[in-house]
Amino acid sequence: MSNVKSQNLEHLWMPFSANRDFKENPRLMNEGRGMFYKKTDGMSVLDGTSGLWCCNAGHNRSHIVNAIQNQASKLDYAPSFQMGHSLGFKAAEKLLEFAPSKDFQYVFFTNSGSESVDTALKIALGYQQHRGKKDKKILVGRDRAYHGVGFGGISVGGLPMNKKHFSLLSNVDHICNTHNLEHNAFSKGQPTWGEEMANDLLRIIEKYGAEKIAAFITEPIAGSTGVLIPPIGYLERIRRICTDNDILLIFDEVITGFGRLGSPFASQYFNVIPDMITCAKGLTSGTVPMGAVMIKKEIYDSFQAGDSKMIDLFHGYTYSAHPLAAAALIATLEVYDGEGLFERANGLAGYFEDKLHSLKGLDYLIDIRNLGLVGAIEMLPRNKKIGARGYDVFQTAFHDENILIRFTGDTIALSPPLIVEKSHIDQIVESLRNIIPNN
Ligand SMILES: Cc1ncc(COP(=O)(O)O)c(C=O)c1O
Repeated sequence: MSNVKSQNLEHLWMPFSANRDFKENPRLMNEGRGMFYKKTDGMSVLDGTSGLWCCNAGHNRSHIVNAIQNQASKLDYAPSFQMGHSLGFKAAEKLLEFAPSKDFQYVFFTNSGSESVDTALKIALGYQQHRGKKDKKILVGRDRAYHGVGFGGISVGGLPMNKKHFSLLSNVDHICNTHNLEHNAFSKGQPTWGEEMANDLLRIIEKYGAEKIAAFITEPIAGSTGVLIPPIGYLERIRRICTDNDILLIFDEVITGFGRLGSPFASQYFNVIPDMITCAKGLTSGTVPMGAVMIKKEIYDSFQAGDSKMIDLFHGYTYSAHPLAAAALIATLEVYDGEGLFERANGLAGYFEDKLHSLKGLDYLIDIRNLGLVGAIEMLPRNKKIGARGYDVFQTAFHDENILIRFTGDTIALSPPLIVEKSHIDQIVESLRNIIPNN
């Protein structure tokens, strides 16, 4: 700890952090391997959250590391506008092998989930204009949704604090989320109550008219806002409503992508096929920043009607399909495939569920929910101070029990790397059994 204290931590303004408190009591991890990080005091920390929902293959995987190193020594960067490099095209092709349907024929690369969301929203609006549906300009999201921090993402997102000081897009509305402890507390897997919550989209359609609505965006499982699992039949009904009303459906799979539910995307798990999928995080197992939007051919084609020498989409990033990210993507997907990590996650989901639900009955617990290798434990706020208990449990887990968990308010989220062993799951759950009643 003395090393940490002597390091100057002042000048980095950390994202989504209590900066002053962190700098008083830092949590630094400078090494990672497999399921573990290493703290500055040399102690190993068991990673219960895949970093920040991203290191699905675990840490420091040699196949991925070698691919990045080799690429860095071969081509550092090539311009991405009107130019390219072979690996970018190969990466797009590789990613589409994981798509839920052959209708997905195109990939737009970004550097993050936030950029993927804003890209998908822009493509949705452009698509409606290109196909002559000039009035289809409204974007619909959900309450308690997290779609990153771009102006598009916070507008369709449903988190008041993330919007508080900022001007938002005007052409946006929201439906309700599906979280309901009265009906669904301690559900194992998908809750049985709540399919009809999808009908709130019909309320929005009634309000504006389907001819005004361009797209609906949702996370199949809302992750960052506390792991909200969709009720049985909910996403299927959302799909039907979108199809019936000619509204594009965008799945934001930044968290649910790449094996979290034991399938490439949640789309395959739920057997619901959207029109665009946004992803990031697990795309490179968190090694190099990269995001992507997977797009159906019909949508891409609508942008191709004009002069072939003119730019077809006035949008892009300097680092779209960056060589290091492209190399990381290909190697990461090879690891997922080669090691059967999605099947592995699937095989462990039942054990994970049983272990998590064994915590039922602990003081302060008001819900446990789970699907695949994602789970959440919701606690009662302490003295009505929302988030205080969550923060304390998180800190105790890290400092005293050497476990990395995530918290949102008073909800603990768990999403271990897909290489997790049963003994690791035991360790996480038993640590929480100790910590929660004492906070
Ligand atoms: C569903 C979803 N969309 C978008 C984002 C934003 O991704 P990023 O932080 O890479 O911009 C996140 C991040 O957690 C997310 O969970």
